[in-house]
Amino acid sequence: MYPSAFTAAYAILLTIFATATSCLHHTHHSHTHMSKRTTTPMVFAHFMIQFAPPGLDGSSTPDYSTDINLAKAAGFDAFAIDYTDNAAIFATNLDILYQTAGTLDFKLFLTIDTTTMFDVDQVVNITNFYADHPAQAKDAAGKIFLSSFEVNPPGWNWQTDVIDNIKVPVTFLAGTLGESGSYEATIPDRGAGPFTWVHPALSASEEAAVDQSYADARNSNGKPWMAGVAPWFFKRLSSDTNWLNAQDSNIYIDRWVELLKIQPDYIEVISWNDWGESHYIGPADTTPESELMEPSKADYYGNLDHSAFLKMSAIFISTYKSGATKVTVTAEQEDVFFFYRPQPVNNIPSDDTYPDNAWPLPENASSIADNVYVVPFLAEPATIYLNSGGVVTSMDSPSFLSKGAVLFNTPANQGAQILTASRPINGATLNKTGIDITSGGNRYQGNVVAM
Ligand SMILES: *[C@@H]1O[C@H](CO)[C@@H](O)[C@H](O)[C@H]1NC(C)=O
Ligand SMILES: *[C@@H]1O[C@H](CO)[C@@H](O)[C@H](O)[C@H]1NC(C)=O
Ligand SMILES: *[C@@H]1O[C@H](CO)[C@@H](O)[C@H](O)[C@H]1NC(C)=O
Repeated sequence: MYPSAFTAAYAILLTIFATATSCLHHTHHSHTHMSKRTTTPMVFAHFMIQFAPPGLDGSSTPDYSTDINLAKAAGFDAFAIDYTDNAAIFATNLDILYQTAGTLDFKLFLTIDTTTMFDVDQVVNITNFYADHPAQAKDAAGKIFLSSFEVNPPGWNWQTDVIDNIKVPVTFLAGTLGESGSYEATIPDRGAGPFTWVHPALSASEEAAVDQSYADARNSNGKPWMAGVAPWFFKRLSSDTNWLNAQDSNIYIDRWVELLKIQPDYIEVISWNDWGESHYIGPADTTPESELMEPSKADYYGNLDHSAFLKMSAIFISTYKSGATKVTVTAEQEDVFFFYRPQPVNNIPSDDTYPDNAWPLPENASSIADNVYVVPFLAEPATIYLNSGGVVTSMDSPSFLSKGAVLFNTPANQGAQILTASRPINGATLNKTGIDITSGGNRYQGNVVAM
């Protein structure tokens, strides 16, 4: 995954997504990137309802309006609600979420999480219950959406046990971790088409090959394909969930750039708010401390700002919906983002008491580079400066989406991280200062700040 140039201290890499550089990661040689989209493109965000934002008055009744308004403004069409066996939460919060979405003209649909939901009667009941709600998400033909997250196939037949028992027509997009689009297309009982979940262990180029195989299958069988894309992945909740993944290596930008070329019918960002796995794009601070898992938010999630992922998403979404196959940036869309871990990947904290087999470092920590990723979206060229712990690096950025990565894995590059530019960006002085990169500390932190 990591080019050899990364071995040079303070090396700077600049990968440019120019008009001329297509097929960047393709192993296939499908020379055209013509859209074979089957329908109106839509974009969804996976949503964990159990992380309920508190009511504005501090009441326990959750207020989802901030999340919905932010998602709408970024161009999302709906939240895909992760439906688990958490009956108590769903009995109250799902109705509140549907009501709020209805009021705000936003849409929702259910994703049946078959890793914990084993009751097919409940799946049918809940799908029927909201099928004619005004906030129910539907495809262009008016069929309600339903999808799933599956590690193994569930103990029921989706067609005969579920879809045939829903009172309205259904577009069921079956979740899969499969890496071959042509193989998945041969499996019966897979609904209208596949929903490809992300593969945390795959690099960006491997994931691009998987995506291409699903695009090829869609192009030949005409069935809609929903691609999942995640900005980050770090999970450290117990001895058997202590992971860093290849997904961490700037993959969000790579995946979107590839997906724009092959144009899935639908795209689902995974996720809006799954704090526990660090792949959220929504605002971390809408979740109350009491809703977070151990250890405390301050120790683990640290309220880390992921707003850059949401802002990048808005640009990618408008590009995707327009049918354009590469990102162009208007003067009003200009922005420069950066993201990085606040600790070196090999950091050994002083007071991290996980009884992990892989203690003290998460599984696959050795595959991760200590980078500050810089992602300029520019309408005109500019020079971007990163002051990383007092060491200034510059990159001449062209007039479109580009990205670079700066190593920080020397003590000199810990400390403040400051992003500036040679000219105003979207009419304002660029001057972003992120939290310091530090070593030591109390807890291991593999999540990222993205701003
Ligand atoms: C179906 O779901 C609704 C909404 O959660 C619930 O009120 C109702 O009790 C459920 N019915 C059955 C038979 O489980
Ligand atoms: C760690 O990396 C190996 C080799 O790439 C991979 O097979 C494994 O799935 C990874 N583990 C996790 C938790 O991603
Ligand atoms: C950037 O912001 C910092 C802190 O607010 C300030 O000290 C510094 O002068 C600013 N730099 C520029 C170029 O505006």
